[in-house]
Amino acid sequence: MSDRELSGKVALVTGATGGIGAAIARTLGAAGAAVAVVGRRADLGTAVADELDNGLFVPADLTRRESHDEVLGAVLDRFGGLDILVNNAAAYTSGLTHESSEEEFDRVVGLNYKATYFLTQAMLPHLLRGAGGRIVNISSIGTTRSWAGSSIYNSSKAALDNLTRTWAIEYGPEGLRVNGVNPGIVQDGPMSFPVQAAVDIDAHILPTIPARRLATAADVAAATLFLAGPAADYLTESPSPWTAA
Ligand SMILES: NC(=O)c1ccc[n+]([C@@H]2O[C@H](COP(=O)([O-])OP(=O)(O)OC[C@H]3O[C@@H](n4cnc5c(N)ncnc54)[C@H](OP(=O)(O)O)[C@@H]3O)[C@@H](O)[C@H]2O)c1
Repeated sequence: MSDRELSGKVALVTGATGGIGAAIARTLGAAGAAVAVVGRRADLGTAVADELDNGLFVPADLTRRESHDEVLGAVLDRFGGLDILVNNAAAYTSGLTHESSEEEFDRVVGLNYKATYFLTQAMLPHLLRGAGGRIVNISSIGTTRSWAGSSIYNSSKAALDNLTRTWAIEYGPEGLRVNGVNPGIVQDGPMSFPVQAAVDIDAHILPTIPARRLATAADVAAATLFLAGPAADYLTESPSPWTAA
């Protein structure tokens, strides 16, 4: 019997066909978890799943409500349960508010907020089945700080942060731990490649970062592993709103 920290656990990582999600899937897999790799791009998803000791690619467009039960069914068929849900899939859009379209709003909010909400709703009965269920929401630094041109994306991630706190309170008594990771610019995270190309990172960004370097997908994956693992059993967002000073 392996003694890796996630041995015997089943994890589902959305957006695991992308840069950060693939790193999270590899890291959770290396820690012993069986991992469902979820995304639309079959070539990338299959490649990531094939790298893992016990990986399964589950193709899904998560903006389709029906896909949530389809994903759950595939995970239960192969692994028999679910312990860890990493909500990482997201879309980005840029543009000042007066220029933004309803189509872009629906595309980004429909994935980052609505699809995450209902996918999680579908998974909750299984996450609550055994002790030690975990949800890790991959959010953004843009929820506590904002910048021009990111109103749709940043507010969608702020909604996600609120879900993190609400779910932590709603399901903490049943043993579920819910936490978020809020990265700044991730060097090898494709979503920020346009920003990295447009901004002088050395001059304007690095001086604002205490570590004086950009985050990497491996940094985000390491934080996710910690939050998904046994060492974080008492760690959860949000103390009671009624006891906060
Ligand atoms: N990169 C950064 O600097 C940075 C900073 C802060 C936070 N983040 C957050 O980190 C996460 C990953 O970012 P990333 O840089 O790795 O971006 P990415 O490579 O673009 O990954 C996004 C993922 O979302 C999936 N996705 C998009 N639409 C989907 C849909 N309709 N259904 C299912 N999956 C869908 C994509 O997979 P398919 O295309 O295969 O469907 C892809 O795997 C996101 O939550 C992002 O907000 C990133």
